[in-house]
Amino acid sequence: MLNQIRKILEKPPLYAKSEAAFWNDEHISKQMLKAHLDPEFEGASRKLDFIEKSVTWISTLVPSSKHPLLLDVGCGPGIYAEKFSKGKYQVTGIDFSRRSIEYAKQSAQAQGLSISYFYENYLIMDLKQHFDFATMIYCDYGALSTVDRRIIMKKVYQHLKPGGKFLLDVFSMAKYNDFQEMRTWEICRNGGFWNENEYIILNGNYKYSDAVTLEQISIISNDKTTAYYLWNTYFTKETLIKEAEQSGFHVCKVFGNVAGDSYHKDNFTLAILLEK
Ligand SMILES: C[S@@+](CC[C@H](N)C(=O)[O-])C[C@H]1O[C@@H](n2cnc3c(N)ncnc32)[C@H](O)[C@@H]1O
Repeated sequence: MLNQIRKILEKPPLYAKSEAAFWNDEHISKQMLKAHLDPEFEGASRKLDFIEKSVTWISTLVPSSKHPLLLDVGCGPGIYAEKFSKGKYQVTGIDFSRRSIEYAKQSAQAQGLSISYFYENYLIMDLKQHFDFATMIYCDYGALSTVDRRIIMKKVYQHLKPGGKFLLDVFSMAKYNDFQEMRTWEICRNGGFWNENEYIILNGNYKYSDAVTLEQISIISNDKTTAYYLWNTYFTKETLIKEAEQSGFHVCKVFGNVAGDSYHKDNFTLAILLEK
């Protein structure tokens, strides 16, 4: 037992992937979907009022009349996708949470919305279609390693028509500077987000070099120990532009977020609109 605990608590090398995939864990994916759908919770998705403001702004920035075919990369349960569809975009959503995609499909059907959803890893997507516009919203880009960020930029580029646009957001260096290293623990007697039965959670928040942080979540339950790694890479305007340009994109404009606020280096997020 001691060896197992020591192993899950070890600080992993940069961008090491968790052995346990939590997106499709039966219990965790249920909690994740609940978090996505809670309009007041800023966790899996942003709060509903932000999402509404965001969709209104995006629809003016890259209007459906000029850019009808929209690809939502990491669409979750389709909260943005549905609103885009109601705003006359022809929407395709891709996500590798089976539960989110199943919910999204049922929800679209119940509302009579024609949205194509794919349960798939976006790092290997090959949709045999070219889009006018792609979105990757809620800082998922920064959750990827340097290698995977290069892959997703390339994948999105390949899936766009010439002149197609790509809007994404990331966390900024101001957020990195605000990130506190710490270790905490808690006993969850009645279960919780990570397990339906009693468990102990040990959290390790670490800063790595190159503007990267790790939230290491170690779960000790009756029958197993599991470590989950949540990585984040933070950006300045310059580092984000550099990665986008290295992938062949032309930079249209940098914003403070995906709701159109102005860029400021002290904001916790920044968003970028790119063109192929
Ligand atoms: C932070 S959530 C944002 C969801 C949605 N964009 C929103 O704002 O409501 C990130 C989403 O990306 C999905 N995701 C993460 N890695 C993925 C991958 N490699 N392939 C497909 N989807 C992925 C997750 O399942 C999750 O739904």
